[in-house]
Amino acid sequence: MFRALQIVLRGKNGAAAALPLPGIANHCSYSTGSTSQRLAGKVAVITGGASGIGKATAEEFVRNGAKVVLADVQDDLGRALAADLGHESATYTRCDVTDEAQVAAAVDLAVSRHGKLDIMFNNAGVAGALARARLVDLELADFDAVMAVNTRGVMAGVKHAARVMAPRRAGSIICTASVAGVLGSVAPHPYSVSKAAVVGLVRAVAGEMARSGVRVNAISPNYIATPLVMRLLAEWYPEESAEGHRRIVEAGINEMAGVVLAPEDVARAALYLASDEARYVNGHNLVVDGGFTVGKVPNMPAVPAE
Ligand SMILES: NC(=O)c1ccc[n+]([C@@H]2O[C@H](COP(=O)([O-])OP(=O)(O)OC[C@H]3O[C@@H](n4cnc5c(N)ncnc54)[C@H](O)[C@@H]3O)[C@@H](O)[C@H]2O)c1
Repeated sequence: MFRALQIVLRGKNGAAAALPLPGIANHCSYSTGSTSQRLAGKVAVITGGASGIGKATAEEFVRNGAKVVLADVQDDLGRALAADLGHESATYTRCDVTDEAQVAAAVDLAVSRHGKLDIMFNNAGVAGALARARLVDLELADFDAVMAVNTRGVMAGVKHAARVMAPRRAGSIICTASVAGVLGSVAPHPYSVSKAAVVGLVRAVAGEMARSGVRVNAISPNYIATPLVMRLLAEWYPEESAEGHRRIVEAGINEMAGVVLAPEDVARAALYLASDEARYVNGHNLVVDGGFTVGKVPNMPAVPAE
């Protein structure tokens, strides 16, 4: 994110009004409004399910016929979302993914309540220290804390989902990585490393899991103005309003004309990977970034016209 934001700020110094690009919608207007039940009868655990991408995914999964266990550390938000979704469809459980026993308990809760686990969405994540540290100033305690949630927490989720899925020879495990795990230099180092490791762990276990009939995939979203990102931007650019922070994400770090990435877009990617439509998709990193990670304009002179 660093480099991208520097570009935004250079632009801002020259012309702040350049931030809201014409044709960029502020919010995702697309909605499935679908009555299809692509996850009918399936049971999911969603870590980080109380907010942002996890919340949108819980809503999408329930809309598609799944029962969900929301596993998070934000009890009030998690309980409120479960109530909104209906207690027939959604249960909240406190689960700190840095504690393996709590991850195991969330998986076991899904099984005891619904008889099985079909989908494990390892999505809980943190940004880490908000101050922008240069490599030489890196706090390894912050590195450890970020890795504990974003990577070790995902590993625990994969392990315990596999424990109950492999004997049934079915299941879909999905792990939230990030464009920061694909490109260097777009996020603080601990976050980037933690997300690259998520892609690595998916690749490490997908073959073994395939032989048990279980799929393991990653999703790598581009930046979205969820609480996680808004907290980071508020720290980095205190002089900007919340609207300015949102524009940095939606216009500055966005290659796709006319579309702003929303949590619902990631939820639909998770829906696909969770569903039987993706029954042969395994070990994949589904990048949901509008071409951001492949769209760098070459830093070279223009080719002279003939
Ligand atoms: N927002 C983005 O731009 C973006 C981009 C790429 C990837 N991601 C990733 O998407 C995932 C979801 O993030 P989000 O943007 O929805 O942010 P968010 O802050 O809205 O949601 C993250 C959720 O994870 C929960 N969480 C944090 N630590 C936890 C722990 N130890 N145990 C259990 N739950 C914990 C939080 O309480 C929160 O509900 C994260 O893994 C994040 O790294 C986000």
